[in-house]
Amino acid sequence: MPGPAESKGGAPLVLGIDTSCDDTGVGVARGPVVLANVVESQTALHARFGGVMPELASREHLEVIADVAQRALAEAGVTLADLGAVAATRGPGLVGALLVGLSYGKALAWGLGVPFVPVHHLEGHLAAAGGAEPPFIALLASGGHTALFAVHAWGQVEELGRSRDDAAGEAFDKVARLLGLGYPGGAALAQLAATGDDQALSLPQPMQGHKGLDFSFSGLKTAVALLLERQPDARPADVAASFERVVVTSLVNGAARALSQTGMQRLVVAGGVAANARLRREFAAAGIDVAFPPPALATDNGAMIALAGGQRLASGRLPPAPFTADAEPYLPLVGA
Ligand code: KG4
Ligand code: ZN
Repeated sequence: MPGPAESKGGAPLVLGIDTSCDDTGVGVARGPVVLANVVESQTALHARFGGVMPELASREHLEVIADVAQRALAEAGVTLADLGAVAATRGPGLVGALLVGLSYGKALAWGLGVPFVPVHHLEGHLAAAGGAEPPFIALLASGGHTALFAVHAWGQVEELGRSRDDAAGEAFDKVARLLGLGYPGGAALAQLAATGDDQALSLPQPMQGHKGLDFSFSGLKTAVALLLERQPDARPADVAASFERVVVTSLVNGAARALSQTGMQRLVVAGGVAANARLRREFAAAGIDVAFPPPALATDNGAMIALAGGQRLASGRLPPAPFTADAEPYLPLVGA
């Protein structure tokens, strides 16, 4: 039986790196198969600031990246010599943080004499949903982005709508902070919401009656802040459940509208908020044909970049001079 290091069906072994924000992620994949996924989280480092401190994030990435890469190779049971390519996120993200993974990836690929594949962070999130072949609608809901895309083919992406203000994950984090759940509090808020009554409190449904495909979440966050001021006795679990209901309804309705307006049949949900259990339940209840990433691949990680890098290699979508790819903090997905 061939081991993980030996070629199966010709797909190269790809090491993927993501240092776009505050997690140092390195993964290894061959074709669609993830062989390793190591994420060194900096959450504790930034928690006391209530948000990510960019300079600290860059320094920490630099400190740990070589070790995280070694652990990923060990987890996959391979060595550097087995790698057929190296992929790294080149944007969007914090520029200093991106530069660490991008430079490390380029140097590694150069030293090994294998191709280097610069990858768009959101393309990685999409690849993590696994096996979905275009055409499909993508709902990306993370801490930094909330947007709907029509993916006509790999590399042929059209943006249909986006949040006009806060991202969905950002709203989860801000409301979690109002409830004293720490940072980033999306997962903790969801856990608390599971024990609450989602009808207990009335909150405005954002963009109600709006027929477009944009989202808005900052008014909802303000509404929660006002509610907590006016009703200090409200049960935190009820506040969490009511808030989560409104966000999930907004995301499900937006995605359903995108499907009906484009006539596309399939939806892929990606980004950290894709880990939300209520979101998963409500898409299923709406009878939508939907693919989610496995929870371990929903939040930022390097394996998703290895998967996307492998897809790019397989379809020949490499920029003319990959080793000159620069970190792009605001890189758009359309045309990337
Ligand atoms: O994609 P991601 O790991 O990082 C970005 O690229 O932003 O997403 C992180 C976001 C955070 O805002 C976090 O609070 C949110 O995803 N998140 C969740 C859950 N798990 C993580 N939001 C709602 N429910 C969850 N279970
Ligand atoms: Zn992300």
